[in-house]
Amino acid sequence: MSKPKKYMSDIHLEDYTEQYEDRQATAEDMIFDGGRKRELLSGQWHYAVDQYDTCVRQKWFLERYVDDKGFTVPVDYSFDEWPIMELPANWNTVSPEYLIYDGSMVFTRKFSCGFDEDEEVFLKIGAANYLCRVFLNGKYIGMHRGGSTPAYFKITDALNTGTVSSNRILIQADSTRRPEQVPTENTDWFNYGGVYRDIELIHVPKVHIKGFKLYLVPDGSFNKIAAEIKLSEKINATATVRIKELGIEKEVKIEDGYGKVVSSASPVLWTPENPRLYDAEVVCLNDKVSDRVGFREIKVNGREILLNGKSIFLRGISCHEDSVKNGKGLTDEERIENIKLAKELGCNFMRIAHYPHHENMAKLADELGILLWEEIPVYWAIRFEREKTYFDAENQLKELIRRDFNRASVIIWSVGNENADTDERLAFMSRLAECAHAEDVTRLVSAACLVDGELNKIADRLADYLDVIGINEYCGWYTPDFSKLPELMENSDPDKPVIITEFGADAMKGHHGSIYDKGTEECQAYVYEKQIETLSKIDYIKGMTPWILYDFRCPRRTSVIQGYYNRKGLLSEDKTYRKPAFYVLQRFYHKLMELS
Ligand code: GCU
Repeated sequence: MSKPKKYMSDIHLEDYTEQYEDRQATAEDMIFDGGRKRELLSGQWHYAVDQYDTCVRQKWFLERYVDDKGFTVPVDYSFDEWPIMELPANWNTVSPEYLIYDGSMVFTRKFSCGFDEDEEVFLKIGAANYLCRVFLNGKYIGMHRGGSTPAYFKITDALNTGTVSSNRILIQADSTRRPEQVPTENTDWFNYGGVYRDIELIHVPKVHIKGFKLYLVPDGSFNKIAAEIKLSEKINATATVRIKELGIEKEVKIEDGYGKVVSSASPVLWTPENPRLYDAEVVCLNDKVSDRVGFREIKVNGREILLNGKSIFLRGISCHEDSVKNGKGLTDEERIENIKLAKELGCNFMRIAHYPHHENMAKLADELGILLWEEIPVYWAIRFEREKTYFDAENQLKELIRRDFNRASVIIWSVGNENADTDERLAFMSRLAECAHAEDVTRLVSAACLVDGELNKIADRLADYLDVIGINEYCGWYTPDFSKLPELMENSDPDKPVIITEFGADAMKGHHGSIYDKGTEECQAYVYEKQIETLSKIDYIKGMTPWILYDFRCPRRTSVIQGYYNRKGLLSEDKTYRKPAFYVLQRFYHKLMELS
């Protein structure tokens, strides 16, 4: 098909996004930002709903108010007269009129930014769902795909210095669900759109520390700490790693931009019961970064999961990043509330599903003491045959691992959830599992797999590539017959630990009936009792994360019990009401705690 001439191309050019496909911010663009000087650009942004992507079609970012013949161009935007939205935010919970809006919004503001000549300035967007495009002072800076991982853009060359508000930034956030994306257009959670995690300017020296990994060498000795440092340039240099409380001050020889050093030390090992953290810093040339790190080892031995060499049962619960008031943009107070509720249940573990939560979740888990399963949204029917889709999945995995590498609480990277066991899916997800192992030798790799419904056994071929097998099974809810569960356990003979990553039942708070009446509190409690009765006897089950801590928004759930919420929570969506099943699980976990 012939392409339209340049004239009025903004109307006729249907593949208008192609010109914005380059400069995708990926894991390779991330910098280490712990302990760095940063300016918050969060706050008041002007915004417009851009249903037809007119901003990028017409290139509003050029701000062409007068053409080269002096003719005043009628424009379709009024940047600084648009209404204000406080960012970060999911627009869905900002105003009822935007609750179910899927599409683009454009955000803009002016800002000033002074920087030294030997500095680089990075723009960090904590997360924008699903993709975002950034424009600065009339230039296209780049784009990011992936609704739950950070994007870093080097913007030094596009910045104006000088007077106040001398820089104009535009961010287009597009929450449109698409089959080729990760996740696809069909998920069992709410598609919150917007720039919903902080927007920051981070100043770094021209040559800066791009990566900093600090971990206990996983060799079972518990007495060696490794530090890996990656610079922004492939140069030779010397860095110094300091962990004062451990008496570590070690030079690291950097060659070709990378250096690693192992120090002898006997740190107090991090555990959920004693979440001991150490302050660490790295200095190199005129850069300095810092982090608070816990040292622990997580391994699998046969069917055992070993934390610091001791067998552990993961008393867990699943949890979405969902808030009635704030959508996916939880506050730290809400994250702390979720961790405290999990600990009240008797948990030492949380499956934070089905996508990377805010980086503060793992930082708070480090501080408060709870182990985490983190996951990328390779969820249900992904386009497994599509290479670009694989690239996006792998990039989100790498962005997650590099963001949270130093977090002791994170013990498992999950490469996905509930995907049919096809050849294409096996190729795609085994490749992701290999990528996770290559990125991180200190953690376990898993996925939430399905049971083989015909054979009623654990038989997912992906298990061969995993350290721990996650299994979602809903005996007593989606599959009526509870007797299937003991049979499933009997039929299966895994050679590695299994975590039951989902079981559960819907219950609307205050809705009562018999244990057979679906949707009642009695039925949910009964499902938990029957599940625990069987699962507690299976020696290869080394953890469980029942679905789910609290009810969450879900457009697929329209019954009178659900009201556009998934009601499998042990608490109501506002977390003010504990359903009886909360206490069924709590009793089980408290009993395990007494026995351990
Ligand atoms: C699936 C899926 C969850 C979903 C749950 C349910 O197992 O992994 O995302 O919410 O079932 O049906 O409630």
